Amino acid sequence: MAVNITACTHCVQHPAAIKVAVNDDEKLKIIPEREFVCFSSPLTPGINRINITAVKDNITVGSITIEVFRSSELQSVFKDPPAGFQKDYFHMKDHGQCKGCHKLEPGDADRKPVNISGFRAEGLKDNNMFAGSTCYSCHNGLTSSPFVHGPAAVWSCLSCHEAESKPVYSVKKPDTKICFGCHVEQKEDWYSKKYFHGPFSVGKCAICHNPHSSENPFNLIKPAWELCLSCHPDKGGGEHIIAGYFFNITYHPTHGKPDPLRKGQELSCSSCHNPHASNSQKLWRLNVGSGFELCRKCHTD
Ligand code: HEC
Ligand code: HEC
Ligand code: HEC
Ligand code: HEC
Ligand code: HEC
Ligand code: HEC
Ligand code: HEC
Ligand code: HEC
Repeated sequence: MAVNITACTHCVQHPAAIKVAVNDDEKLKIIPEREFVCFSSPLTPGINRINITAVKDNITVGSITIEVFRSSELQSVFKDPPAGFQKDYFHMKDHGQCKGCHKLEPGDADRKPVNISGFRAEGLKDNNMFAGSTCYSCHNGLTSSPFVHGPAAVWSCLSCHEAESKPVYSVKKPDTKICFGCHVEQKEDWYSKKYFHGPFSVGKCAICHNPHSSENPFNLIKPAWELCLSCHPDKGGGEHIIAGYFFNITYHPTHGKPDPLRKGQELSCSSCHNPHASNSQKLWRLNVGSGFELCRKCHTD
């Protein structure tokens, strides 16, 4: 999410430094030379305080503070906005002042077809895959994290966002309606299982996966272990794994050790659990009939 800030012409005529801080953290300091300065900054879930000050000869000559709320589905305290905040749809308004420099109407490049098997074979060879996308000039930050999701990497934004919907560019809900359009292999596999994980069964893929890009493998919104703990805070110590097996041992590692079954990967919740679906009620990832059989997969001696 980002907020756009329009620099005032007054400051351009009387050059002063403009500073933008988000939650007291300075994000931009410039002497504006153009009428327009475009810049974007990520926001944290909850209320963000954006402070814009104009400084001349070390004296503050102007200052504005705005508060914006960023919601987060994952953190229930930030799910709904507090009183006084309303959803502001940028694309529901006419932005005449932007049109001189930015194209706002989507074009064919924003709808290019994406094919999973082709993608796997070809990979990300092209370095200019945003070419022609009208969304890129403003939203380029969406794909700047290292793990970029296939269709976002090629800037096929309209393979998920609908240009004809109201509000414009919304995505179908639940997420399964868009995700399984391409991930057919997973759809067939997971729906053939007996038990579904809570958030999966209500179709909320994006509660765990960032559809654009992220810092983590599998485009997870947080590192896998932290992600699981955000909803299962009592499982980190692994007591639940060991309970019932020993009197004297109450701890089982759930991270920070190599995963004996997955070379090169760290032990994590998903070493034992499938976050989508499984044939066992406890959602074991491995095809085993009992907890003891599960232990034997890693503890062979
Ligand atoms: C005078 C031309 C001009 C106008 C008018 C203009 N922009 Fe920009 N905008 C640019 C250019 C050029 C860039 C590319 C980045 C740069 O060089 O600053 C840009 C980049 C952006 C970015 C991406 C910034 C980033 O940090 O990646 C956003 C968001 C943006 N513009 C939004 C807007 C909005 C919203 C409006 C209308 C209120 C607008 N722009 C009007 C020229 C303009
Ligand atoms: C002139 C700059 C500009 C262009 C071009 C642009 N956007 Fe945006 N868009 C914004 C700004 C600013 C916001 C509000 C801040 C945010 O959510 O990042 C926004 C918000 C959005 C949102 C959130 C819902 C909303 O309306 O606030 C979606 C979805 C979106 N844009 C999709 C697109 C797609 C798809 C394209 C290309 C077809 C596109 N945008 C082109 C500037 C732009
Ligand atoms: C795989 C599907 C998918 C693709 C491809 C995709 N998006 Fe999204 N996008 C989503 C979903 C899902 C959301 C969350 C919407 C919600 O929950 O209301 C979202 C949210 C957004 C938002 C709102 C701010 C945010 O980050 O949550 C913007 C802006 C946006 N998308 C722009 C784009 C642009 C630009 C592209 C092209 C690179 C793009 N999206 C490609 C699925 C997608
Ligand atoms: C337009 C087609 C398309 C849609 C829609 C789509 N994906 Fe993807 N997805 C891809 C492609 C292409 C790749 C990269 C090829 C691959 O690794 O399978 C990919 C890769 C992934 C990966 C990484 C797989 C890996 O092994 O690293 C995840 C996770 C993922 N998608 C989740 C989602 C989620 C969640 C949604 C819905 C919000 C979604 N996808 C919607 C095409 C799509
Ligand atoms: C509770 C969090 C969570 C939810 C909800 C979730 N995922 Fe995942 N997903 C993960 C994790 C964690 C991994 C990595 C699993 C691993 O390490 O083996 C993953 C892996 C994947 C992969 C790549 C590997 C594979 O198993 O094929 C795809 C594709 C994917 N998810 C798509 C989806 C789709 C589509 C949905 C919605 C139907 C969804 N996910 C819902 C957490 C989640
Ligand atoms: C968005 C919240 C959320 C996240 C993130 C999440 N879970 Fe869950 N999980 C749930 C809900 C809701 C249930 C269902 C609880 C119930 O039925 O009592 C559940 C149930 C489970 C169960 C037990 C199934 C049963 O019936 O006993 C396991 C195992 C599990 N989750 C593992 C994981 C793992 C591993 C991760 C990380 C990849 C994860 N969860 C991430 C919400 C979440
Ligand atoms: C070494 C394998 C292993 C790892 C790693 C592991 N679990 Fe489990 N998990 C189990 C077993 C075995 C059970 C079934 C316990 C039982 O029968 O009571 C279980 C059960 C669960 C349940 C169901 C509720 C319960 O207590 O029975 C949840 C939720 C869960 N695990 C979440 C997690 C999360 C979150 C992580 C990561 C922090 C994690 N697990 C790591 C093996 C594992
Ligand atoms: C996915 C692989 C995996 C599974 C499944 C698994 N473990 Fe482990 N276990 C490990 C790893 C890795 C360690 C850490 C070994 C080390 O410290 O080098 C460990 C350590 C232990 C320890 C020593 C704990 C300590 O005090 O340091 C015990 C006891 C143990 N496991 C019992 C079990 C039992 C009982 C089960 C079945 C319910 C089980 N494990 C299932 C991977 C696994």
